[in-house]
Amino acid sequence: MCGIVGYIGKRGATELLIEGLHRLEYRGYDSAGVAVMNGNGVETRKAAGKIVNLEEALSANPVHGDLGIAHTRWATHGVPNECNAHPHIDCKGNVAVVHNGIIENANVLRAELQKHGHTFVSETDTEVIAHLIEEAFDGKLEDAVIEALWQIEGTYGIAVVSSLDPDKIVAARKGSPLLIGLGEGEYYVASDVSAILAQTREVVYLDDGDVAVLTRNGYTVLDQRAQQLERQVSKIDWDLDQIERGGFDHFMLKEIFEQPATIENCMRGRLLPEEGTSKLGGLNMTDDELLSIDNIVITACGTSWHSALIGEHMIEDLCRIPVEVEYASEFRYRNPIINERTLCIVISQSGETADTLAAMREAKQRGARTYGIVNVVGSTIARETDGGIYVHAGPEIGVASTKAFTSQVMALLLFTLKLGRLRSLGVIRGREIIEKMQELPKQIQEVLDRAPEIEKLADEFKDEVNFLYLGRGYNFPTALEGALKLKEISYIHAEGYPAAEMKHGPIALIDERMPVVFIAPHDSVFDKLMSNVQEVKARGGRVLAITSRAEPDLKGKADYEFQIPETIDLLTPILASVPLQLLAYYIAVKRGNNVDQPRNLAKSVTVE
Ligand code: M6R
Repeated sequence: MCGIVGYIGKRGATELLIEGLHRLEYRGYDSAGVAVMNGNGVETRKAAGKIVNLEEALSANPVHGDLGIAHTRWATHGVPNECNAHPHIDCKGNVAVVHNGIIENANVLRAELQKHGHTFVSETDTEVIAHLIEEAFDGKLEDAVIEALWQIEGTYGIAVVSSLDPDKIVAARKGSPLLIGLGEGEYYVASDVSAILAQTREVVYLDDGDVAVLTRNGYTVLDQRAQQLERQVSKIDWDLDQIERGGFDHFMLKEIFEQPATIENCMRGRLLPEEGTSKLGGLNMTDDELLSIDNIVITACGTSWHSALIGEHMIEDLCRIPVEVEYASEFRYRNPIINERTLCIVISQSGETADTLAAMREAKQRGARTYGIVNVVGSTIARETDGGIYVHAGPEIGVASTKAFTSQVMALLLFTLKLGRLRSLGVIRGREIIEKMQELPKQIQEVLDRAPEIEKLADEFKDEVNFLYLGRGYNFPTALEGALKLKEISYIHAEGYPAAEMKHGPIALIDERMPVVFIAPHDSVFDKLMSNVQEVKARGGRVLAITSRAEPDLKGKADYEFQIPETIDLLTPILASVPLQLLAYYIAVKRGNNVDQPRNLAKSVTVE
């Protein structure tokens, strides 16, 4: 949720930290701060609001040094003001800490520390860490950090500096991602690779329980008993331009327009057209093992949960195996029935969502095999699952997920082809599906080329206060996803429903002020959906239909129409999602909202 970056080397730390914070701003943006070792001690600068405010504070009162840590915050404990912004310091101002995560026993620790004479200035849970380190310090910062960590319950990714042991950064992780960047005589710590990608591509991902010590001469990774550990160096193959806007007004728009390429990337090298199946290198399961599965549980949050619902439909349809979709946040609190014959598919763009990670661990503990559908390479979920498939959508910076969603659906289809061909899917049908999958990039491009039509529709709808999104079959989840996109960035209240369910309640809402978006491609439930369109029209609702043909039945029924190219039922959610993403985008822009950093949201929810 928040972002951490730290630097130790010979260059000016402040500039590098600010650049890193800008790259992390999508992860949290309600306040920010830096702590830099200025040669005499630790100096901090903080500001509420966006990073530009911190930059202003720094230009009014600069701080120079070649070692420092920085943070951009998404508030959990305490309002987003300057005082609660990180870094937090101890009583004497020697120790500075930045922290992602939540310290669950902060109140108890705070009371204990106050009894020992410590004075607190913020409302944050993080401040206890600085005081615990102060209390434990006995000459070596890493020892004091380790001692402090023993007392902490909860999750953390932290970076710490101290003027009493001035030539190092100590970083530690439990439940909140952290990595070390390796340079020439300089090292970085970051919560997300995008913070340091402009400086280095060589990174070491820390595991839970790791404590890293960075000096100008190198780095070591320790466990929490100060024993040295070996950690592998990974190479990042993302390009810098992938994390830049590249001429688009917003990351979200750029990412929507990347979808022809991201869909292609997801399929590349994974299709076996002749055999009507896929080959999935990371599956790590033999055909016999796949055949021994009795049921599948898919768990995820938010948009990833919507792709899971589409996956459920596909897998049950083509593989004839029971599938259940669970909100990751509910899964582990309800004693789920899973065992060693269950395959648990975990879907996450970031690979770091706290609830999804916890659900995956729960499933593993209960004996299930886990399979990750993840975008961020090297993320915790990707590293901890038994097998998986990277969706290869590239970095997604816009808080509202777009290209990751469509790639997740593709990845689920690749898995479906593999399992389906082993079970009930015939080769002819498999080949047909692959043929249609290969048409998708071009078809998405056709939709994108007509973005100005959607922009015009956005003019019609931008001042509405409510929306309903209705779909059936494969496109009920598309309706949910369309509504979520609109809510997230336009702040318009929107609901997604299975179209026929409308009669059981939501129909009471319909009048001329209720726009209803029907996801109505030419599929097996089109005729059924038409009756639902008529029900809405009969009550004065305004209908926008996302359809796939100039269907005579629809003519004169919908007030507005946008046609997507023809495809098979199971691919319609991908094509129909693109105009819905654009609609949400243009409405939000026309309302003057910051679409890449919508209020109250953060890209990756790494707290429970
Ligand atoms: O990184 P994940 O896919 O695990 O994230 C899950 C949700 O937090 C995420 O999809 C969220 O709903 C997005 N803001 C959707 O646009």
